[in-house]
Amino acid sequence: MLASGFYDVAPGKVATVVTHLEMTKQANPRPVPEPEGVKLEQVDPTVDWYRDLYRRVGGQDWLWFARIGMSDEELSEILRDSGVEVYAMIKDGVAEGYLELDYRIDSECELAYFGVTPVLLGSGAGRYLMNAAIRLAWQKPIKRFHVHTCTLDHPDALGFYRRSGFTPYRQQIEIADDPRLAGQLAMDAGRRIPIIR
Ligand SMILES: CC(C)(COP(=O)(O)OP(=O)(O)OC[C@H]1O[C@@H](n2cnc3c(N)ncnc32)[C@H](O)[C@@H]1OP(=O)(O)O)[C@@H](O)C(=O)NCCC(=O)NCCS
Repeated sequence: MLASGFYDVAPGKVATVVTHLEMTKQANPRPVPEPEGVKLEQVDPTVDWYRDLYRRVGGQDWLWFARIGMSDEELSEILRDSGVEVYAMIKDGVAEGYLELDYRIDSECELAYFGVTPVLLGSGAGRYLMNAAIRLAWQKPIKRFHVHTCTLDHPDALGFYRRSGFTPYRQQIEIADDPRLAGQLAMDAGRRIPIIR
């Protein structure tokens, strides 16, 4: 555990506060009209399809990098695992959002990834997707549904998760190589987060 105080972050790194949240019984859905022209379907993603959607959801404004730095083999192993399910939100034939459920730990489900692209942001599709995530996760005999969000995500993600019925129970600081300087994301990605060389 770190003592109270300020800590230097090395140049070339990004620091983020990670909040872990959980629900231990199925939360009620929050009513929202079904988004027009959008359907949700389970997909069996290839690595290329997945990376493209991952980047469009989180790789421009929100500095998602974890799955970009992963090798194709590592990512493919996760996506092929029978304990991992991916559901995509399709609009006009194109995936514009997704949720990933990870049941690889017995009696638990992690909402491993969740989000929509700028095409659907603020349209009610995120709430519709969360109602589906909660319903799908609790169809299995789990005791706990959990998720984490960090300060690189959309600033309302934490509030959105709390309104969804998740309760924060743990915080961490993560320090990582800045994915823009590492060449994994565009230099103009995640503009809110300064690049310190
Ligand atoms: C987190 C995220 C999914 C939230 O989605 P969003 O697009 O902001 O949310 P929505 O527009 O669907 O819903 C927000 C609220 O507006 C309401 N709303 C939006 N459109 C509406 C409509 N047409 N009619 C009625 N209500 C509407 C929703 O019901 C919801 O209310 P509630 O939260 O009080 O239940 C989104 O910010 C996102 O994908 N961000 C990028 C990726 C990210 O950071 N993911 C989180 C990683 S941990």
